[in-house]
Amino acid sequence: MAVKWYKLEGINWIEQDNRNYSLAFQKIGSAKICLLKRGDAIDAFQNKCPHAGGSLSEGWVENDSIVCPVHRHKFDIKNGRETTEQGNCIRIYPVKIIDADLFIGLPVSYLNPINWFK
Ligand code: FES
Repeated sequence: MAVKWYKLEGINWIEQDNRNYSLAFQKIGSAKICLLKRGDAIDAFQNKCPHAGGSLSEGWVENDSIVCPVHRHKFDIKNGRETTEQGNCIRIYPVKIIDADLFIGLPVSYLNPINWFK
């Protein structure tokens, strides 16, 4: 799928007490994105939980899963699959770092306003 790369600026990383990662929320157009930083590694995925709309950037990480703070469903950060029972999944977005600048790739279809309210 074709993606368009966006440079992210002014990221407000929220340190997690006594944990070795940070989470952040970013919005690009209609896309609401959760960012996860663990050391030098950064992952990006949709912020809205597919179960009932919880904000994953307000959740926490267990192993390689993000845990939704609302009903505690877990999603694998690498493939987006839910690791609890219901079989939902989240969108994972590609990330690249060039000269210390962070870029995220969004599917081109996100750029079409017709798709913004789906
Ligand atoms: S809203 Fe996320 S698990 Fe229910």
